[in-house]
Amino acid sequence: MGSVRLAAAALAATVTGMGYSAQAAESLNLICSADVVICEMMTNRFEKETGIDVNMVRLSSGEAYAKIRAESRNPKTDIWWAGTGDPHLQAASEGLTEAYESPMLPELNDWAVAQAKSADYRTVGVYAGALGWGYNTDIFAKKGLSEPKCWADLTDESYKGEIQIANPNSSGTAYTALATLVQLMGEDEAFAYLANLNKNVSQYTKSGSAPVKSAARGETGLGIVFMHDAVAQTVEGFPVKVVAPCEGTGYEIGSMSIVKGARNMDSAKTWYDWALTADVQSSMKDAKSFQLPSNKNAQVPEEAPKFEDIKLIDYDFVIYGDPEKRKALLERWDKEIGANAN
Ligand code: G6P
Repeated sequence: MGSVRLAAAALAATVTGMGYSAQAAESLNLICSADVVICEMMTNRFEKETGIDVNMVRLSSGEAYAKIRAESRNPKTDIWWAGTGDPHLQAASEGLTEAYESPMLPELNDWAVAQAKSADYRTVGVYAGALGWGYNTDIFAKKGLSEPKCWADLTDESYKGEIQIANPNSSGTAYTALATLVQLMGEDEAFAYLANLNKNVSQYTKSGSAPVKSAARGETGLGIVFMHDAVAQTVEGFPVKVVAPCEGTGYEIGSMSIVKGARNMDSAKTWYDWALTADVQSSMKDAKSFQLPSNKNAQVPEEAPKFEDIKLIDYDFVIYGDPEKRKALLERWDKEIGANAN
């Protein structure tokens, strides 16, 4: 189908060259920062429903932000869908994204609209999910490890080499973890905690959900991830148990932003409005994406970890999505944790 449209675009270009006013086929350059399965499902469905060709690339949230920033003089991306909200807010406050008030806004939950308002409509919330971990019950039973219920438990030396978490520079999940710990403990205590945790961490992955995928497959014992990413592994049939930390935890407002100066602005707005519909958000569970949808009328997946059941901190998106704050925390992480990684 894509190649047919490409051929049509080529033909249209030739015809236009000959002086006819035929229109080239529409296209959309999309960065997708959610799991690749949902990225592909969304892309295919959008192409089918709108006839717009999508060039999709999957990048972790921090990487997506860096790419959009690097290309700001000559944008190659039209829209950035999903990924944690903090880098979207950072892009918004640096003027890298376009203000857009979608006609869909009245259908959204307050937290999604608040995200938009705080960024002068340069981003919007598409889903939410809380941070926690998933561990492999077979590995834990075999090694005689007890269930870690609290952040404090994870630094116990019995978990040495058993924990994975992503690198907060590339991954929005790991940045959410870093900002969560800072908000729970204070910055110095959080970095002292992370230095202890570092002794148990075997690998800092690039993507946020990779640690629990490794745990599911028995390559590590435990992954610190969004709880819905751990649930996805359990639903796949892996021996993964999901934990909400006892001290409380942070959460993401997965977001979406149109790139400033997007070449395919109309297509970007079409995607934006479409991705906020109840119908599209209700179908995310079919790709085992179990976040809480931002559209009030979308079906909340049965499997989604519900905020009422989790002790949540009052995560400050404005402060932790601020460019200076994010930069400073990541620099400190590189120096004190990344440089001493196993
Ligand atoms: C997974 C989660 C999403 C989250 C994303 C962030 O795909 O399901 O809810 O937004 O990770 O990815 P990152 O690689 O930036 O941590």
